[in-house]
Amino acid sequence: MNADQLKKMAAEAALSEVKDGMIVGIGTGSTVNFFIDALQSVRHRIEGAVPSSAASRERLITAEIPVLELNVTGNLPLYVDGADEATQHRDLIKGGGGALTQEKVIAAASQRFICIIDQSKLVDILGAFPLPVEVIPMARSYVARQLVALGGTPAYRMDFVTDNGNVILDTHNLDISRPGELEQQINNIPGVVTNGLFSQRKADQLIIAGPDGLKIID
Ligand code: 5RP
Repeated sequence: MNADQLKKMAAEAALSEVKDGMIVGIGTGSTVNFFIDALQSVRHRIEGAVPSSAASRERLITAEIPVLELNVTGNLPLYVDGADEATQHRDLIKGGGGALTQEKVIAAASQRFICIIDQSKLVDILGAFPLPVEVIPMARSYVARQLVALGGTPAYRMDFVTDNGNVILDTHNLDISRPGELEQQINNIPGVVTNGLFSQRKADQLIIAGPDGLKIID
């Protein structure tokens, strides 16, 4: 099975979490795109979906799934998203697609967060994948120096602007043995909008697809 087949398998497994009348929070990325495809088949049973990016919004519109705004819906019963890395403890690195801030807001506003991944994303310790940090443009250089002081090696994501008009520093070489502490420490740097560690609000469930089938971690 190739990576896309595994992503599709994880995404389709999450469909059983979708109940009649729900408003579903929707993450961003290739795995979530498979989930949107699956959600299309039950679109008449749900009230709608709240996207975490312009890309997911477009995909929902194409799938004829009603797009709703978080400011109008209030908190959500369910959020489904992928990840760049995940641990057995359900701590995540996200933001490879640059949608981390809206993803973090919707995850925080959701009662249940299901994370769908293929098994290549499961790691013992986070950090082989560089940690995305969303920064307001005028603070880029200052925040980069602060990330270096934390032991990181930030790289400016070239030719990329987030849906919020900001830039991304992909930060290598961080020690992420205590993800919750580091998440807070980086978020405390003035100019940081948020970082891609999802530990304070981690996933409630991982659905992991591998060649031998699905594994669930609650
Ligand atoms: C986007 C994300 C994605 O969830 C993450 O990058 C995983 O993407 P994919 O499913 O394409 O591997 O955080 O900001």
